[in-house]
Amino acid sequence: MTQDIHGASASAAAAAGTGTGGWWRNAVIYQVYVRSFADGNGDGVGDLPGVRDRLPYLAGLGVDALWITPFYRSPMADFGYDVADYREVDPRFGTLDDARALIADAHAHGLRIILDLVPNHTSDAHAWFRAALAAAPGSPERARYLFRDGRGAGGAEPPNDWESVFGGPAWTRVPGGQWYLHLFDPAQPDLNWDDAAVRAEFEAVLRFWLDLGADGFRIDVAHGMVKAAGLPDVGRAGQTRMLGTAVLPYFDQDGVHEIHRSWRALLDTYAGERIGVAEAWAPTAERLARYTRPDELHQAFNFHYLTAPWDAHGMRAVIEESLRTAAAVSAPATWVLSNHDVQRHVTRYGGGAEGLRRARAAALLTLALPGSAYVYQGEELGLPEVLDLPAEVLQDPQRRRGEGEGRDGCRVPLPWSGEEPPFGFGTGGTTWLPIPPAWRDRTVAAQDADPDSTLALYRNALRVRRGHPALGDGPLRWLVGPPGTLMFVREPGGPDGAGGAGTPAGRSVGCAVNMGDRTVQIAAFGAPLLASGPVRAAGGRIELAPGTAVWWEVA
Ligand code: NOJ
Repeated sequence: MTQDIHGASASAAAAAGTGTGGWWRNAVIYQVYVRSFADGNGDGVGDLPGVRDRLPYLAGLGVDALWITPFYRSPMADFGYDVADYREVDPRFGTLDDARALIADAHAHGLRIILDLVPNHTSDAHAWFRAALAAAPGSPERARYLFRDGRGAGGAEPPNDWESVFGGPAWTRVPGGQWYLHLFDPAQPDLNWDDAAVRAEFEAVLRFWLDLGADGFRIDVAHGMVKAAGLPDVGRAGQTRMLGTAVLPYFDQDGVHEIHRSWRALLDTYAGERIGVAEAWAPTAERLARYTRPDELHQAFNFHYLTAPWDAHGMRAVIEESLRTAAAVSAPATWVLSNHDVQRHVTRYGGGAEGLRRARAAALLTLALPGSAYVYQGEELGLPEVLDLPAEVLQDPQRRRGEGEGRDGCRVPLPWSGEEPPFGFGTGGTTWLPIPPAWRDRTVAAQDADPDSTLALYRNALRVRRGHPALGDGPLRWLVGPPGTLMFVREPGGPDGAGGAGTPAGRSVGCAVNMGDRTVQIAAFGAPLLASGPVRAAGGRIELAPGTAVWWEVA
């Protein structure tokens, strides 16, 4: 007999809920890029009230926590990653009371809230930087940043050869002749983490938000705060590739770990397991794992997984290495496919129908792997990168400074409902970046009732994952599959292994992903639970088309 399986089987519907102990070891964390999530006041820019309104959607999706990108007071030179006041909400995003209400409401919906801390640099509009510009070279005000004299005749050359991640030299000269360091935009001067006032201020900022109820922090440029003594030259151009290169004198210096240790100690003084997540572009998986040693941060983003191409051999190598290096420091592995800085994975995996097919399969792969997973807003709708934004609407500083295509295409506002832009994004007629009219069939409303939609796939996968004792943190055993196919089984036995009332205790979950270009037959060993596309199960075997993934349950 042949059975069509596309969607979740009823047997997978298990009771939700994990205990609180080590919640972050298997949490699914949804990234809210505030500007582009939902607009509560009709000005075309997403804001905190917009996020608050949509909490039922997020809770219904089945994620455990939200990471909310910076909403602090900012001139928006880098869309909030240039912070002018770490304790104030930017008026474009709302008020401090909105932030308080959002945290409280999220908690009431069972969602934890992770805020974004930006400690490597401030905005050039921060009171400290203004004071530094007004003060003399050698002053305590300048010592909070990295001001240096230039090289060459009259100090007209930058102090060293460091390059900005956004392109061009990492130094800008100020009236009076000194230069200041900015690893990103000139509007983002780097702080000097050797300065005691800087350390004290950030501890106070952490406490401020923890006292307001934040469940943790995603730490921006967690690998960048400490620079090599003497700020030595790198000695070559083209330095800003961050994976697979040597340690740079401004990235992944050993000194950053002492800062993370101090923050872990601070986080541990609060009840409720508040966490730190490193955004660290460390050159290797081993070096990345150092950020999550037992006395440091809880998690680090796995950009090696994000950048792995659609290839079973390479993908397996990255997964194995991620699991091995995380286990060596007793940290959970993490998995991420997209964020607001990279091309959306539907497009990265080939675009069009093929890209979407693979992205759906990648979702099942990601959510079946041991550890914690991140979902970037809109990936649950299968959104692609918007590649044809007109030049006049592009706003990303990275593009302005010449580094790559820019990141606007992954930051286009979410389509919620309706037949035409702005697709329910807000009550006004505009959005800060235009939403493609073709997204009318990608809106939340359009996908809501369609059992085959990408939204339904995510909801089903998250529901199965939350209720199944074999998924989340725990062991993974590889199976031998056909060429081009990843196949593994997850067995109960991790921290959640006991399962809750009504869970299919003792059952394992298998996952197979066909990353090749031919249909394969796999031995299914049990009942299919969920598939990313139409698959056929017959006589104990499952036929898996290219770009398709399936979960099955082993009794
Ligand atoms: C990483 C953030 O994700 C990115 O958006 C930002 O431009 C840089 N850090 C600088 O803060």
